[in-house]
Amino acid sequence: MSEGVQTDFAAGVLTVTLARPDKKNAITQAMYVALAEATERARADDVVRVLMFRGQGDSFSAGNDIADFIALGSQGGQPSDMPVFRFLKALADLDKPAVAAVRGRAVGIGLTLLLHCDMVVVAEDALLSAPFINLALAPEAASSMLLPQVLGHQRAFEMFALGEPIDGRTALAWGLANRAVPADQVETVATDLALKLAARAPNSIRKTKRLMRDAERLWSLMQREGEAFGSQMSSPEAMEAFMAFSQRRAPDFSKAG
Ligand code: COA
Repeated sequence: MSEGVQTDFAAGVLTVTLARPDKKNAITQAMYVALAEATERARADDVVRVLMFRGQGDSFSAGNDIADFIALGSQGGQPSDMPVFRFLKALADLDKPAVAAVRGRAVGIGLTLLLHCDMVVVAEDALLSAPFINLALAPEAASSMLLPQVLGHQRAFEMFALGEPIDGRTALAWGLANRAVPADQVETVATDLALKLAARAPNSIRKTKRLMRDAERLWSLMQREGEAFGSQMSSPEAMEAFMAFSQRRAPDFSKAG
């Protein structure tokens, strides 16, 4: 248990709960450390058969904490030193099944995390978005490859460039989710799936997942994306976007160039 992230273990399932509901589960640096530790534990600990992600309150996650973006962008640190990269590496390396239970908003990494989950249950009225360009950033978590792989180039580009949300039914139709159910059934359906997966032959399921994903390729892309993301994060256009969010106004990119 760390601030903003809770972990619970039962019946072979390690459940990770994003627990910062007053901020729509926006993820801080400290929370990335906890997420990385849980994901690393899921891989290393034989008793863990399945990792499940869920959010407390009305949203899955509003993505990276924007106050952290402002602090990190003004410090000009190397993105590779940030705890988010430890979490992304752990996700790329995870060879056990991951399940997500998604209600409400799933924004930024709240959506790109789903691309690393093997079974995703969304609420029919969930809202998923990837507004990296609205924030003058760049895609992360290997989503520059994984999102077009799932949706096709045009839909993925639109999600990145316009940042408008799609609902849970659309996510199901577009292949981003396995099930779209009424919001009050999301947790039950996701838990049932996690328990089913936990009962499957563990080595067979790990080998299958390893064959289906190229962990090294994912990690290498995450690092390349990190370079674009990092240079954008400290750019004047990103600072304008972050300030606009804090001041609850639309960003003005008319003078950027
Ligand atoms: N970082 C930091 N704080 C965030 C946040 C984020 N990513 N997302 C939401 N919050 C905070 C809000 O500032 C607000 O805090 P306050 O009550 O102290 O003012 C609180 O969470 C509730 O958010 P609010 O915007 O009032 O809720 P909403 O239901 O009107 O909208 C969202 C929800 C998720 C659509 C909206 O908060 C949003 O667009 N967040 C930013 C998402 C984003 O761009 N993430 C980064 C992706 S790379």
